[in-house]
Amino acid sequence: MTKSWLVTGGAGFIGSHFITMILDTYPDDTVLCLDKLTYAGHLETIAPFLRHPRFAFVLGDITDGELVETLMSTRQFDAVVNFAAESHVDRSLQNADPFYKTNVEGVKVLFSACERHHVHFHHVSTDEVYGALSLGSTHKFTEGSPLNPTSPYAKSKALADAYLIAQGEKTGQSFTISRCSNNYGPYQYPEKLIPLMITKALRHEALPIYGDGRYVRDWLYVRDHCTAIDLIVRHGQSGRLYNISANHEVDNLSLVKQLLGLLEKPESLITFVSDRLNHDRRYALDASRLKRELGWKPQMPFDEGLKHTVAWYMAHSEWVKAVLAKTSTSPQQTLK
Ligand SMILES: NC(=O)c1ccc[n+]([C@@H]2O[C@H](COP(=O)([O-])OP(=O)(O)OC[C@H]3O[C@@H](n4cnc5c(N)ncnc54)[C@H](O)[C@@H]3O)[C@@H](O)[C@H]2O)c1
Repeated sequence: MTKSWLVTGGAGFIGSHFITMILDTYPDDTVLCLDKLTYAGHLETIAPFLRHPRFAFVLGDITDGELVETLMSTRQFDAVVNFAAESHVDRSLQNADPFYKTNVEGVKVLFSACERHHVHFHHVSTDEVYGALSLGSTHKFTEGSPLNPTSPYAKSKALADAYLIAQGEKTGQSFTISRCSNNYGPYQYPEKLIPLMITKALRHEALPIYGDGRYVRDWLYVRDHCTAIDLIVRHGQSGRLYNISANHEVDNLSLVKQLLGLLEKPESLITFVSDRLNHDRRYALDASRLKRELGWKPQMPFDEGLKHTVAWYMAHSEWVKAVLAKTSTSPQQTLK
């Protein structure tokens, strides 16, 4: 069925892939992207479709209730998908205010507008709301696991999830939430682990690894995240949560060594730096609900996705330069 989408945060990493996937896959779907273009959002990222006849871009903030109301009144959307967020854990440790403003207040504004206009709301959340697992355990979080977020970023995401669930139950407004593991792929801002390590290694700079490097993350290729969201919006059950994961757990040190191998750079570039506060040891999701109920399967094998990502960053040094030129205050390293 043809859909008219409002995609918020679509000039960022995952949102831009989602827009590409929708425009490529559905010949009649239309997309309006609302994005504030923070340091993490860039017109360069969505340049391929800025002149696309089924795409439009609006510069603006999801916390701006008047703007959101104007957009919702002038177009009849079928779904709002919210990628807009402050998404960098290390930044949240330095200043949590923008995280609560965008990740909680912004979600409330969007959801109220969806309620008034009877439009389905899909919220993109994160595995970090569940907190950490211990190293060596085989336990994975299900959608029923209690929340135990540790960073201000994860706390802001958990607050938004809780708000949506409570408000949705009260009003019967149609919504879905997905909680995904770590994404990787082209167009990820080079403060996140994989693009940061690639860009530093390409410049033959030291690669900073927190603590002992034994921090396990569960990696998913970005396009697979986008197909899961599309499936959830089209066929998911309202009010339901869906975990998204490809079950590919790897520790940071092994991952960085694999990247160095692909880049043909020496492991001597690895430098261990002091650990970050409350650093979560392991994240792992049980995504069997999504597979069982909606038949989703990730398509990209990890080794292939990583090779493709490395090749993309090698070929797009101009994009990296352009996006980094906008800010000079990137923290050293993070996991998500
Ligand atoms: N990257 C991951 O590995 C990952 C994993 C699981 C979940 N998530 C979630 O997915 C979503 C997207 O993540 P991402 O990695 O693409 O983030 P990103 O930081 O690359 O992009 C965020 C986008 O939101 C925009 N934005 C920020 N504040 C805004 C505001 N107030 N109004 C309008 N636009 C605003 C930015 O300009 C940017 O374009 C986030 O909600 C994040 O929590 C990310």
